[in-house]
Amino acid sequence: MEKIIDENKQGEALDLQGKGANTKKLFIESYGCQMNFSDSEVVASILANEGYNTTKNLEDADLVLVNTCSIREKAEITVRKRLEKYQAVKRKQNPNMKVGVLGCMAERLKSKFLEEEKIVDLVVGPDAYKDIPNLLSEVEEGRNAVNVILSKEETYGDISPVRLQSNGVTAFVSITRGCDNMCTFCVVPFTRGRERSRDPQSILEEVNDLAQKGFKEITLLGQNVDSYLWYGGGLKKDFAKASEMAKATAVNFAQLMDMVARAQPKMRIRFSTSNPQDMTLDVIEVMAKHRNICNYIHLPVQSGSDRILKLMNRQHTVAEYKKLIDDIKALIPNIGISQDMITGFPTETEEDHQATLELMKYVRYDYGFMFYYSERPGTMAERKMEDDIPLEVKKRRLQEVIDLQRDLSRDNLKNYLGQTVEVLIEKTSKKNEDEWSGRNDQNIVTILPKENYKVGDFVNVIVEECTTGTLMGRPVGLSENN
Ligand code: SAH
Ligand code: F3S
Repeated sequence: MEKIIDENKQGEALDLQGKGANTKKLFIESYGCQMNFSDSEVVASILANEGYNTTKNLEDADLVLVNTCSIREKAEITVRKRLEKYQAVKRKQNPNMKVGVLGCMAERLKSKFLEEEKIVDLVVGPDAYKDIPNLLSEVEEGRNAVNVILSKEETYGDISPVRLQSNGVTAFVSITRGCDNMCTFCVVPFTRGRERSRDPQSILEEVNDLAQKGFKEITLLGQNVDSYLWYGGGLKKDFAKASEMAKATAVNFAQLMDMVARAQPKMRIRFSTSNPQDMTLDVIEVMAKHRNICNYIHLPVQSGSDRILKLMNRQHTVAEYKKLIDDIKALIPNIGISQDMITGFPTETEEDHQATLELMKYVRYDYGFMFYYSERPGTMAERKMEDDIPLEVKKRRLQEVIDLQRDLSRDNLKNYLGQTVEVLIEKTSKKNEDEWSGRNDQNIVTILPKENYKVGDFVNVIVEECTTGTLMGRPVGLSENN
């Protein structure tokens, strides 16, 4: 899977097939989590109906939209730099272009954005994308437009996303929006609002439609997928107030996965992200039951110290997390597991840091997304705690975590040598035109010679070499899944 959060990733805009006589040009790019990339596809769909085709060239764009991330300060700085670039293009080449900011920074800064960045005409929060056509009319009339209202219902379930940058093989399907967990370091509950789930029927329709279009793998997406709960609509927190009937017919995440896996038994199914406190064993049992649900779990823990977990408001202990990992490995022995870690959270001692390294050695993660703590305005940590760990200490600890993860990944990958893995081919390898790149069941990137295989094939591959993050192997035929 792509990196969950990657503020450095350059969003790219793509051409999309317009509906009808589309004449206006949209340049849209995304930063941050997969949800942002997925949301941009919803926005492209809304604007296609308004006569916009996408373009890859800023210079040609009538409208430039940037879908932004607030998760760490660095992510916001990246977006500010992009706005400078738009400014330069507008001044020199494209004086009529309009610029809109979408996503988490829009929600966080609201109309302040218009004051701080003169280039911005339009500010739209993550739940207000359906209002973009109205907001654009305001902009046309020379007014700046802002809508940052967070919703109790909006899941965009009724919009069929335009697949931007698609390889035609893998797609994201969003199933929940918002987050109720209130981890003290995290800005997401403030920028994406309260948690709500999407109607399983509309999820199934999207998945079936993707299958019909030839897609082979979907990732069910949410800030906290295990918390998925459909009871006819409404916020997760209001479930207790629902009618007995609604409660009796509610659909949880394990049931949703089971429905999706049965509806499309040839399609690979992944999900992201799980919070350990909400992950239940019935989800693992459903995974074990279905061949097509991939044996891979992204299970962020953030720290290996109970004291720090408590300060972070994570609702589990290290012992509970270890037990969960043991149970998962007992049910699915060849499971791939990845982590998110934060180093240098307020008051973190050398001992806490060592506990993190110990936990990593215990779990033996296959992969990780690791960050040093970045204080975010408005979060509990910012309001109640001092950001007291010096940057060089945060960075040194982060490096130790990264180094250990590299060793663990390398060792884990060696276990695949000589084994046959099933790879779904996604694209030409970056390094060699004659090789395909795909991923195995455990989400590990696997490279193979092209031979006569094609994108979208499931191929059995005997692993012959590995690096810290990649397997290389020899194809021995199509798998039975084709
Ligand atoms: N549930 C979400 C988590 C979103 S944030 C998901 O879908 O991935 C992703 C990761 O960013 C978190 O797991 C955490 O490790 C990291 N992160 C969040 N806030 C952070 C902060 N203030 N400083 C550093 N890292 C942070
Ligand atoms: Fe953030 Fe914690 Fe939710 S990391 S997205 S508040 S689970």
